[in-house]
Amino acid sequence: MEKITLGPMPYMCVMPTLLVGANVKGKPNYMTAAWATVACMAPPMICVAINKVRNTAKGIDENKTFSLNVPSENQVVETDHCGLVSGVQEDKSGVFRSFYGILKTAPMAEECPVNIECRLFKSVECGSHLLYIGEVVEIHAARSCLTDGKPDIEKINPIVYAQMTYFGVGNQVEEAFSAGKKYTKK
Ligand SMILES: Cc1cc2nc3c(=O)[nH]c(=O)nc-3n(C[C@H](O)[C@H](O)[C@H](O)COP(=O)(O)O)c2cc1C
Repeated sequence: MEKITLGPMPYMCVMPTLLVGANVKGKPNYMTAAWATVACMAPPMICVAINKVRNTAKGIDENKTFSLNVPSENQVVETDHCGLVSGVQEDKSGVFRSFYGILKTAPMAEECPVNIECRLFKSVECGSHLLYIGEVVEIHAARSCLTDGKPDIEKINPIVYAQMTYFGVGNQVEEAFSAGKKYTKK
């Protein structure tokens, strides 16, 4: 395969499309985020890179709590809206119906099938963005999106983000932690 250098950039092939929920001055605010992933297994932690200028950053700094909400394909319009408009310009508290869990200050979107409730563990100053690492205190999941008590990706229907575009989840390719057993040395 011939390789071309593209220069340094924060490239990730595919990303999730999520909504970060945070209370800003006591009101829920939702921000679209794709720069998010798992940070730790025990204790369970996730992380999300948030530009310092975002209203959401103010809310997380204020309460030390936030949520990651997993929208379904049918919430793509509301989700993109939360990425186009800042809570500084417009009150986004009505875009989703909010509910609260254990932490009381991390708003979660009722319409999203999975909500990850987090207590701020640490924020790491990286430059333009702060990496917010959250300890997961609870996962709130719609019963209708579970199979054998576990979140089911086909029922959740999450939105994949890549190349300024929203995609659905594609077909299963193979079983993970299993396909490799077929490997034979070349
Ligand atoms: C698909 C998509 C992904 C985004 N991902 C991020 C992200 O990971 N981090 C970030 O700081 N901004 C991200 N943004 C931009 C913010 O969502 C956007 O600036 C938003 O208006 C900020 O809202 P707030 O000021 O109310 O927090 C993304 C926007 C879109 C549309």
